[in-house]
Amino acid sequence: MPYYRSVGEIPRKRHTQFRSPDGGLYAEELMGVEGFSADSALLYHRHLPTAIVDARAVDSSAVGGRHTVPNHPLKPRHLRTQDLTFSAGTNAVTGRRLLLGNADVRICFAVADVPSPLYRNAAGDELLYVQGGAGTVETVYGALSVGDGDYVVIPTSCTYRVVPQGREPLRLYVIEANGHIGPPRRYLAAKGQFLEHAPYCERDQRGPTEPLTVEGTDVEVLISHRSGLTRYTYANHPFDVVGWDGCLYPWAFNIRDFEPITGRVHQPPPVHQTFEGPNFVICSFCPRKVDYHPLSIPVPYNHANVDSDELMFYVGGNYEARKGSGIGIGSLSLHPSGFTHGPQPGAAEGSIGAEYFDETAVMIDTFRPLELGEAANSCEDPRYAWSWARRGPDWD
Ligand SMILES: [Fe+2]
Repeated sequence: MPYYRSVGEIPRKRHTQFRSPDGGLYAEELMGVEGFSADSALLYHRHLPTAIVDARAVDSSAVGGRHTVPNHPLKPRHLRTQDLTFSAGTNAVTGRRLLLGNADVRICFAVADVPSPLYRNAAGDELLYVQGGAGTVETVYGALSVGDGDYVVIPTSCTYRVVPQGREPLRLYVIEANGHIGPPRRYLAAKGQFLEHAPYCERDQRGPTEPLTVEGTDVEVLISHRSGLTRYTYANHPFDVVGWDGCLYPWAFNIRDFEPITGRVHQPPPVHQTFEGPNFVICSFCPRKVDYHPLSIPVPYNHANVDSDELMFYVGGNYEARKGSGIGIGSLSLHPSGFTHGPQPGAAEGSIGAEYFDETAVMIDTFRPLELGEAANSCEDPRYAWSWARRGPDWD
């Protein structure tokens, strides 16, 4: 996150004495990525951020589990998150169910109606996409109010919890990276400002606006790290930051603020790119005017993106190219490398003359194959693979 932000109280000069009203020194913490050679923030704590009084191993199944199986035989898949069951009392961290994953990214889903435990992912950034409901993401930097259509980027090792609000549970599509997630490099000037061709910019981003402090002692924080899960007990509540500044912090961006790029003929998927991560990209397909060449075909051509698995999450409208496939709101389609995919039969002809597509989808293209997690196996529509030919083993 390249933009400087300052929240709460901070001293005039970094690394100098900064005292609380009772005369004690605040504890300064530098949180920085890439060996302190890239974005960072300085946070000022009331208590030592280092003071833990216990550390216990936790079974890795507590945050969705880690077991996946290869997509073998290789098939396009239709997963229906709308059919996943979540009991009342589920939270957005330990209630996650693992849909898909590989060495670079884990993709989970959760329907949460109670606050999560305090949590920190030390292995990489997390991106929460809010499919429905509303809530607050409370972090050591402050709180973010989130709702339908929000992407929430949570930096590596940022302590946070998710608090659902309102009568509807929070429906969260969770992307856990094994590294950092941010705007594509090509959208940014050398010093980090969004360029004019970028489909979103600084005005669309929301960050914490005030500190969030909570009193407490012996407070548990669940840590996800590369070896598994550990539960720390902190001597004091980690939400004790009176101020911070820098360019590394959690931020939100609503998919409706993504301005689609359109053309006379079909524009390729990179025009929809929203984020990049280690060995994957994330794109937003938003309601838009469509191709206006007099002979244009607005739905995509058949395509073989030979280096990627493509995972599409359908969150709004009616996705033109998938009409007749059984895909609906909440569905995921996985089109793996090695399988050429394209519009459903009749969709190309049917789209001719259309001026506008009312469709919203979040796409993840991974550069290594995605494997199937527990949740994928429990919500798959086995007919999807045969939906172009309309015959096959599970079709009739
Ligand atoms: Fe595609």
